[in-house]
Amino acid sequence: MRFLFVVVLTGCLDLNPPAVTCENGDGTALPGATWSAQIAPLMARKCMSCHQAGGNAPMSLDTFMRVKELRALVRDAVETRRMPPWPPAPCCAEYENPARLTDDERALMLAWIDEGLAEGTPSPAPVIPSRPLLDADTVLTMPEPYTPVAVSNTEDTRCFLLETGFTQTRFVTGIDIKPGVREQMHHSLVLTVSAGDVSKLSALDAESPEPGWSCPGGLLGSIKSGLGGSFFEPQRFEGRGFQVDPGDRVVLTMHYSLPATGGFAADQTSVQLKTQTEPVTPIVTLSVYNPGWLVGGLHIEANAPSTVYGWADAPARLAGGATFDLHAVNLHMHERGKRGGLWVMREDGTRECLLQIDRWDHAWQGDYRLSKPVTLNPRDRLLVECEFDNTAAKQRVISGVKQTPRWLNWGEDQEMCVGFVTATLRAK
Ligand code: HEC
Repeated sequence: MRFLFVVVLTGCLDLNPPAVTCENGDGTALPGATWSAQIAPLMARKCMSCHQAGGNAPMSLDTFMRVKELRALVRDAVETRRMPPWPPAPCCAEYENPARLTDDERALMLAWIDEGLAEGTPSPAPVIPSRPLLDADTVLTMPEPYTPVAVSNTEDTRCFLLETGFTQTRFVTGIDIKPGVREQMHHSLVLTVSAGDVSKLSALDAESPEPGWSCPGGLLGSIKSGLGGSFFEPQRFEGRGFQVDPGDRVVLTMHYSLPATGGFAADQTSVQLKTQTEPVTPIVTLSVYNPGWLVGGLHIEANAPSTVYGWADAPARLAGGATFDLHAVNLHMHERGKRGGLWVMREDGTRECLLQIDRWDHAWQGDYRLSKPVTLNPRDRLLVECEFDNTAAKQRVISGVKQTPRWLNWGEDQEMCVGFVTATLRAK
């Protein structure tokens, strides 16, 4: 086992903090639930936005007959908590709109299935909440279509520079992403870069005749702010916004993954923004990672079941002793990710959990919006921790052949370890 831990701090870190657990409900269900009365409304809220015709999931689960047919799969997905996809460990922190089933909801679904799936009095089809809309005023589309190539086996990570056309400073208060080809879009990251970084990035773009440039290691170092990336639903920043100056550009990072159909198609994704000129509290993105990792410092040895990296930054101290309010958190690793998280380390040595993911699944990454902002004081630090598993079980399958483990470093097979925290500076 290889165990690496890099910290440049005073004091000691607990390498394996105990998993934070707590209860939500007592996890028991009263017997006698029926599809019509309890299960359909619950599944409409927690499952059907994806599991309906035209939804994100491969099969629909929006009628009694469908659920009955697939009961064994449904039971297993609910019991193991694989579904709904919601990686954060319970009780680490509270988020807005958590997708997970509460312990009581989970118990209710399992009991209903185990008791034989009673239908109850047939009732009209449940109302599935519709995808919220963003009243966007700006649409930035990839200038030309791009057909991904499986440069890294089955994946292609490509960055595109988008002009904003802004002639004055604007504040982005909401974002939505419209994938060109939904089936091949694994995820995206939408960033802004300052005018001073544009020529460097344009040069990268100019290196190949195809639109954009390959960017599997990300763009750390050039990021002014991270606007978001989820295409499941639009994000609104509620009274806050990212400042975008004339001359800044938007970078759309597309991570393409070969779809089940086996071939890539031409993509022209667009980013929709809601913006305004009236100033709002500016949002900043704090990226937590060790700069040394980008230059060969993130080794992940072949066959190692556990390689751990951690890093702590004191962004407030770097910002001249400011106090930040933290609003949303996000962690980035790839397929070899196993476990990870982000914590505030208080000056007195205590840890406050922002995000803990005990079973990393790189298919599900989100911006988790804290239901209450967390204060980061000038002497507090932000800690990111990632554990990787690079054994045979975690390798990619390419054309039906499982790959053998090999040494990896930052950016190889898109592997990385970064915590992103969305924050605002508190007025002094
Ligand atoms: C955010 C979208 C989303 C939501 C919400 C969601 N699913 Fe899924 N589900 C998927 C996708 C996508 C797949 C395909 C497999 C994958 O990518 O992991 C899937 C796969 C499944 C599968 C088959 C494969 C497996 O992993 O077992 C079952 C069964 C399932 N979901 C049940 C549910 C149930 C029950 C709920 C609600 C309690 C739910 N899902 C909520 C997106 C969703």
